[in-house]
Amino acid sequence: MTARVLTLLVLLLSSALPLAALRPRDPDAGWTAPASAAAKANPLANRLDAAEGGRKIFAERCSTCHGDDAEGTEYAPDLMGAVIRRQSDGTLYWKISSGNTRTGMPTFSYLPPLQRWQLVLFLRAGSQRGGDSNDRSFMARPLP
Ligand code: HEC
Repeated sequence: MTARVLTLLVLLLSSALPLAALRPRDPDAGWTAPASAAAKANPLANRLDAAEGGRKIFAERCSTCHGDDAEGTEYAPDLMGAVIRRQSDGTLYWKISSGNTRTGMPTFSYLPPLQRWQLVLFLRAGSQRGGDSNDRSFMARPLP
């Protein structure tokens, strides 16, 4: 009897885990950048070729939390969709630079500014292209 209950528990738990992993964490809606930071333009805005480098930095430093495909995990939100599209480059740069210690987003102010802008470029290119279309192969394809 006990063994059966245990088996049932194990089955229940193992089926619940993948489900939890499928749903990315919701972003903190109250986390906003100061207006002056939000208005900053990306100096690499016309350099889409630099987005590829941003993808590499992302794979090294961000994917553990935001996922290999940048579409979020239970720990950190999806960065390939509407959340990114509706925010300015300056806001994203500010968020990556300052982090949000309350929720577990680390600060990356130690990265050279151009690397941070490269990350912004990558998120911008990816979220415009992959969007919410469930196009999970985006990370494996070259950027425009
Ligand atoms: C230790 C885990 C962790 C790592 C590593 C991490 N993040 Fe995050 N990130 C988070 C969490 C948690 C949030 C949600 C914070 C919030 O919404 O308050 C977040 C939020 C963000 C947001 C804001 C999304 C929004 O809702 O506006 C951006 C942009 C972002 N991360 C980019 C990055 C980039 C780029 C890197 C790598 C340089 C990175 N993150 C690395 C955990 C992480």
